[in-house]
Amino acid sequence: MISIKNLTVNYNNKQEMNALEKVDLTMEKGEIVAVIGASGCGKSTLLKVIGGIITNYQGVVEIDGIPLNTKKNLIGYIPQGYGLLPWKTVMENCLLPVKIRKIGLKNNKKSIFTRRVADEKTKSLVKGLLNELEIGNLSKRYPVTLSGGQRQRVALVRALSFSPQILLMDEPFSALDAIMRDEAAEIFLKVWKQNRCSTILVTHSIDEAIYIGKKIVIMGNSPGRIKRIIENPLYGEEDYKEHDNYKKVYHLIKEEIREVEKR
Ligand SMILES: Nc1ncnc2c1ncn2[C@@H]1O[C@H](COP(=O)(O)OP(=O)(O)OP(=O)(O)O)[C@@H](O)[C@H]1O
Ligand SMILES: [Mg+2]
Repeated sequence: MISIKNLTVNYNNKQEMNALEKVDLTMEKGEIVAVIGASGCGKSTLLKVIGGIITNYQGVVEIDGIPLNTKKNLIGYIPQGYGLLPWKTVMENCLLPVKIRKIGLKNNKKSIFTRRVADEKTKSLVKGLLNELEIGNLSKRYPVTLSGGQRQRVALVRALSFSPQILLMDEPFSALDAIMRDEAAEIFLKVWKQNRCSTILVTHSIDEAIYIGKKIVIMGNSPGRIKRIIENPLYGEEDYKEHDNYKKVYHLIKEEIREVEKR
């Protein structure tokens, strides 16, 4: 379970408005939460705190009742823009988290320069994911030679390469066109269902939030805060757009976001 209490972040030591102010959020294990809100309301900031990139904050962030420790907690993180390293191949990018965390590795007997390499379990997990996402043939390519959709899938494999307990995704589908976006969300859910790690998805798309989020967290800005949390009645519905409730839920979210923007 992820529990956030009274989380406040200020990037400039109080010279500017808080990027997040008094944010409270609880997430059950294995739950997917979609976070939506206008640009600048602190969505990425929230993920960066949980992902351990921002450590200067006030408040409490606990994982299963213990203060967040990004060295111990296994957290997969897809940053806004994917953050793939251009000088590393697809496979090297995918294995980066295991190398940094020094898990899922074995001694390399073949080379005295590279001491530790991915073990069989890690390799088969990563290869399996690459194949499942239909990019298994791209493992030796560099990110610059890939399409947007392929890069997005590599970022997903990399985040899942060490079977994380928490997955953080910052607008993972936003660079894709509408059709690819729907397809990518579908593929994501298919892969996600295999280990159901607690997931936070940041999105600007109301449909994506309805399709993926069990809870939908609507954030407001100036200062960044949680405005409303909706238990999504359409969660898990394949044909959610055909559902009687769809228009109602869509407009409810839209109005909440608009109200924030008008302030
Ligand atoms: N490194 C930084 N230094 C100073 N201010 C920052 C920094 N990063 C973000 N901010 C400010 O914090 C606020 C929240 O930013 P954040 O990136 O979390 O927003 P967001 O909701 O993710 O926006 P978007 O939807 O555009 O990605 C904004 O006002 C932004 O200008
Ligand atoms: Mg952002």
